[in-house]
Amino acid sequence: MSSLSFNHFKTGNSNSAIGLARRRRQALPIRPSRVAFKVCASSSESEAAGPDLSVNVNGLHMPNPFVIGSGPPGTNYTVMKRAFDEGWGAVIAKTVSLDAAKVINVTPRYARLRAGANGSAKGEIIGWENIELISDRPLETMLKEFKQLKEEYPDRILIASIMEEYNKSAWEELIDRVEQTGVDAIEINFSCPHGMPERKMGAAVGQDCALLEEVCGWINAKATVPVWAKMTPNITDITQPARVALSSGCEGVSAINTIMSVMGINLNTLHPEPCVEGYSTPGGYSAKAVHPIALGKVMNIAKMMKAEFDGDNYSLSAIGGVETGGDAAEFILLGADTVQVCTGVMMHGYGLVKKLCTELKDFMKQHNFKTIEDFRGVSLQYFTTHTDLVKRQQEAIRQRKAIKKGLQSDKDWTGDGFVKESESMVSN
Ligand SMILES: Cc1cc2nc3c(=O)[nH]c(=O)nc-3n(C[C@H](O)[C@H](O)[C@H](O)COP(=O)(O)O)c2cc1C
Repeated sequence: MSSLSFNHFKTGNSNSAIGLARRRRQALPIRPSRVAFKVCASSSESEAAGPDLSVNVNGLHMPNPFVIGSGPPGTNYTVMKRAFDEGWGAVIAKTVSLDAAKVINVTPRYARLRAGANGSAKGEIIGWENIELISDRPLETMLKEFKQLKEEYPDRILIASIMEEYNKSAWEELIDRVEQTGVDAIEINFSCPHGMPERKMGAAVGQDCALLEEVCGWINAKATVPVWAKMTPNITDITQPARVALSSGCEGVSAINTIMSVMGINLNTLHPEPCVEGYSTPGGYSAKAVHPIALGKVMNIAKMMKAEFDGDNYSLSAIGGVETGGDAAEFILLGADTVQVCTGVMMHGYGLVKKLCTELKDFMKQHNFKTIEDFRGVSLQYFTTHTDLVKRQQEAIRQRKAIKKGLQSDKDWTGDGFVKESESMVSN
């Protein structure tokens, strides 16, 4: 397969104040171009008959919208290669930082919630908590593996996930070194809820719009590939940091990272889970149980993006509890361009992508959708305010009552509609 890829370097950066996104968009009709242009030979999958799952996001071509979310499924060369071989649309590697020596993990670091009666050990896993940090592998090793993957899979999309301390030159160095490996885009982890905020990293930046705007400014002045900002759900209004990230030059936002949680207390030992030497710390919640929360956050971001940003130039990558093609279809119906999966891969393996593609195609066939764009964002229009729901319901009741009331006068009886007219005046 041949592939041709080149990047348009960013021509200008335009940091702006929070809340000025709409005015700024009008003032900047031409989006500074940092999109990557890729021409790829079509995959054997897309040649098969049926709906076309391929997507183009910020100039990146993917054979399907399914992306490995940053975490254990993108933690080293072997597993990322496996993801490409199984057919994932793109891979986002485990988050890296300059100094992995500062990252010290503990074990156990996962705890799971089951849906069986009384949390029976045999019940289906619906929730997953982790207290895992970002990659504890040396940056040099990870960069070597990114480079090798890009050499072996030049037409596949590899995205680096990065995080640094509140230090401009550290961010610049990390971006520079990561870009030299040939990665296609960068996702910024502004959202890890545990461990890293203690060092003013991750969610500590994503929860503080002023800090976020400053750090996004540094990043976007330096980066030459598309940048996605990964949002934390651990905030009252997720549209605020999403707006700041896009206004500060990011091409896309990803949502959501894990939800701050305490998985449970062991009622025999009285210690919390996951239990490390008798103690625990709040962790990040993921898997099926977070899917409705993720849908809510993605819906809010998508509405904001539709109202304030030019949809063709900005992207939305949805994450949270995806295990079926239907879960992914829901995110796309809300406006997502791509759908990331992390815990689902940890539970079902890399082959999950085949099931996801088949189920998404089945959904598309059912509605006669030929491409992802045919239904992307279609359900967003059905969200409104509660006040509007009340108004709509009152109007519907008024109309039903008007029909039920039947004829106003005996002169209104007709021959053709006689039976219906009779029924309209029956009481039950
Ligand atoms: C064990 C584990 C480790 C994770 N590590 C990272 C990470 O290094 N960087 C990151 O941005 N997100 C990380 N995440 C968050 C996931 O990428 C994802 O946002 C979240 O788990 C929700 O999606 P899911 O339900 O498909 O897992 C991690 C998640 C899990 C479960």
